Amino acid sequence: MSDIQPNNIYPIFDRMMGREDKEVLLKQRSVMIWFTGLSGSGKSTVAIALERELHKRGLLCRILDGDNIRSGINNNLGFSPEDRVENIRRIAEVSKLFIDTGIITIAAFISPNNELREMASSIVGKENFLEIYVNTPLEECERRDVKGLYAKARKGEIKEFTGISAPFEAPEHPALSLDTSVLSLEESVNKLLALILPKVKVGE
Ligand code: ADX
Repeated sequence: MSDIQPNNIYPIFDRMMGREDKEVLLKQRSVMIWFTGLSGSGKSTVAIALERELHKRGLLCRILDGDNIRSGINNNLGFSPEDRVENIRRIAEVSKLFIDTGIITIAAFISPNNELREMASSIVGKENFLEIYVNTPLEECERRDVKGLYAKARKGEIKEFTGISAPFEAPEHPALSLDTSVLSLEESVNKLLALILPKVKVGE
């Protein structure tokens, strides 16, 4: 990484087809839907159900999800505070590419503090960024323990596990909060659709 030469780079953004051209082609407006919340809170489940509903309405989406991204582009990153920054930075940069392609981009990452989420928002553009807090309580996430990771974290077999041995800072002003221990999946998706459809649909 020592031979980076930022002075010798000549971006061609201004000559490429732009976001608006893509949005006209796709007949939709793009937006970033950024889920944050503990492991097991329901981020991925809600994201997948939301994508299906938007897709049914003719809207093109792309999901970026923690475990998928961490087995591909971010497979060299762990869970130290520095690696979590780099994880979210790359995800936000990739999200920006999708947003600039006119695609509704749905990110499901713990993204455990305001600084990380603000970094993501400023990379993607604040005007594009909808923060959704999946605020299912820790006790419920731990009770579900879908991946068996909370049990391992309690035994000390996983270090720096969010909610157990690493912090989670709640968002201050999310566009929406969804507690999946109270709301059904359908109710969560309906709340999201009410928020998102007016922003992404054109010509109605
Ligand atoms: S983030 O904090 O950097 O945003 P990310 O969403 O990418 O996290 O990855 C979280 C997923 O990684 C969890 O759902 C869980 O499956 C797995 N994981 C493995 N180790 C940890 C850990 N120490 N803390 C949190 N999640 C972990």
